[in-house]
Amino acid sequence: MPRQLFVTTALPYANGPFHIGHIMEYIQADIWVRFQRMQGHTVHFVGADDAHGAPIMIAAEKAGKTPQQFVADIAAGRQQYLDGFHIGFDHWHSTDEPENHELAKDIYRALRKAGLVFIRPIEQFFDPVKAMFLPDRYIQGECPKCGAKDQYGDACEVCGAVYAPTELKHPTSTLTGATPVLKTSEHHFFQLSSSRCIDFLKEWTHEPGRLQPEVLNKIKEWFTVDEHGHGGLADWDISRDAPYFGIEIPDAPGKYFYVWLDAPIGYLASLKAYCVKAGLDFDALVDPDGPTEQVHFIGKDITYFHTLFWPAMLKFSGRKTPDRVFVHGFITVSGEKMSKSRGTGISPLRYLELGMNAQWLRYYIAAKLNGKVEDIDFNPDDFMARVNSDLIGKYINIASRAAGFIAKRFDGRLASTLGADGSALLETLQAARTDIARLYDEREYGKALRETMSLADRVNAYVDANKPWELAKQPGEHARLQDVCSTCVEAFRLLTVYLKPVLPVLAQQVEAFLNIGPLVFDDASRRLGAHAIGNYSHLMQRVDTKQLDALFEPPSPQPSSVPGEGANGGAVSGGASGAAGATPGGEALAPVINIGDFAKIDLRLAKIVDAALVDGSTKLLRLTLDVGEAEPRTVFSGIQSAFKPAELIGKFTVMVANLAPRKMKFGLSEGMVLAASHADEKSHPGLFLLEPTPGAVAGLRVR
Ligand code: MSP
Ligand code: ZN
Repeated sequence: MPRQLFVTTALPYANGPFHIGHIMEYIQADIWVRFQRMQGHTVHFVGADDAHGAPIMIAAEKAGKTPQQFVADIAAGRQQYLDGFHIGFDHWHSTDEPENHELAKDIYRALRKAGLVFIRPIEQFFDPVKAMFLPDRYIQGECPKCGAKDQYGDACEVCGAVYAPTELKHPTSTLTGATPVLKTSEHHFFQLSSSRCIDFLKEWTHEPGRLQPEVLNKIKEWFTVDEHGHGGLADWDISRDAPYFGIEIPDAPGKYFYVWLDAPIGYLASLKAYCVKAGLDFDALVDPDGPTEQVHFIGKDITYFHTLFWPAMLKFSGRKTPDRVFVHGFITVSGEKMSKSRGTGISPLRYLELGMNAQWLRYYIAAKLNGKVEDIDFNPDDFMARVNSDLIGKYINIASRAAGFIAKRFDGRLASTLGADGSALLETLQAARTDIARLYDEREYGKALRETMSLADRVNAYVDANKPWELAKQPGEHARLQDVCSTCVEAFRLLTVYLKPVLPVLAQQVEAFLNIGPLVFDDASRRLGAHAIGNYSHLMQRVDTKQLDALFEPPSPQPSSVPGEGANGGAVSGGASGAAGATPGGEALAPVINIGDFAKIDLRLAKIVDAALVDGSTKLLRLTLDVGEAEPRTVFSGIQSAFKPAELIGKFTVMVANLAPRKMKFGLSEGMVLAASHADEKSHPGLFLLEPTPGAVAGLRVR
């Protein structure tokens, strides 16, 4: 029976580019989705940016942008990662889109109608300077237990004590440095502690197959009330006061949904927007009695939200609840945890920019993943060994050892019947398909790949036993050569079926070379038989240590583009949009200089006393600059696209004052003004002049 699946990954906060943890989650989900499709099931696979919340509002303000602009800029950088790692979401949305505003309000109204929302005043720290309530992470002070300074509002990093922000001694707001004051405000709560919720959740979480056993165990702890009456599910504060970037609560002016209320609703909003695009029936897909299975892939840190709040919200608003929540562990890099803010030592974008094949990473991550909530580690030596010895050494080599003979000696024709040994080998490979399919379905990718590689070992043993390169030298063995090489090609095709969820682009190349249609899982029960294949061309390069070195190094002076064979033609161009370890502003840093080198450049503050268009030039402006000398200077500057002459007159800026004068078509240019721009101005337009802080005068040296 074909299944109908609605699959999501967690919605990443729109406050930074993707890090390797996000990519890992998407690879895990994408493999599962591709596998289900290869089984003939229908899958709708969507994602979105999680746009709301105080941190994003504050980050936007720091960046001098509206929150909307800020998240739009982040969203604009998403596709290059998804394409680059072959992650095939059907749709990518944002929780700030209208669908989500509507759905969130609908769900809230339904919960209120169900009697599960109540309002209660709470006392909280308030920053009187910024006029806003402070989330715990924006409050610092002395630990009430051990007295350690500069501890955050929720826990002490020195002694490990957990407390309320109001218990901190000498609290300050990290936003303004002000001393926060206690202020009361009405908050909306979702009554998770109600017996209705608890009864439902106990039943929902215990449904066999819904959650992993270790996840269920954790949830049982959360349900447990101890002998002092502590523990158990607590009511959930779902509102925040303005100013807040979020969705306004109906009939409650100045109140917004806490970001975690509307974030998971973003799954539905994304699906809804996708349905409009694809002509699908949204209501049918989320019908509680309908056939569609709803599956969420998430990391272990957000289990509570997805296994308690989210199903309860859906249930009591009369909607379909999730069928499965698949929780994964975290990825570390060389054993190091990544920091939320800095990411890890490896940037996914740099990986692509170095021309490293995305499928290497997919393979490596898949080889480490299982269906449990276990952390995995990216280790560069291990990465190279697995890719080179398994993927290339065991799998790719089968094709490269056999296919050439078929093309050269047999006009591309495979033998119609095979020898007993070859047939037996292929039967073994075919027999593994139900096992491997089950492992994929259970997200036991590591086991699926190990099983596939042990099949590849058998094929290689067959090659070694039959030595096609020797058969090729013996005229009497013509038929045997075709038999052996055909067996290898048949085997290679079967292995490709098993690897296709992980290596989708490689599989396409194989399909083209074998002259066959898109492989599905059932193709592993068939054989090609007498069939003409195309010419083999090398399918995949080995990992080079130089690439790995470069991946872990800070960006080198010259973007050393290592020739690789990333399926999309290697390097991905475009900006790094600030990924840790990636190229800032789209270009690698220039070679190191010493202070003496820098001192050779005489930078001066210049006042723009006049600015004018240049007859016959669409790029230049003629600037008249006062640099504190007897006579003003004339400088031609290529900034016409970004500035109108009138808006520059009277401004101060920075110029290189000792640059050799340059004779131009329009006159002599006596220096250069400095402006900032992205290396790839086409995809990242914008040109920014430098302006000193107020009070500066012309002629001051910048040093
Ligand atoms: N915005 C929330 C999720 C809302 S879902 C309705 C969020 N965002 S996040 O950007 O911090 O994390 C997104 C996903 O990435 C989560 O599933 C999280 O567990 C996962 N990961 C974050 N760091 C990770 C690793 N180091 N390794 C693997 N996954 C990790 O939480
Ligand atoms: Zn302490």
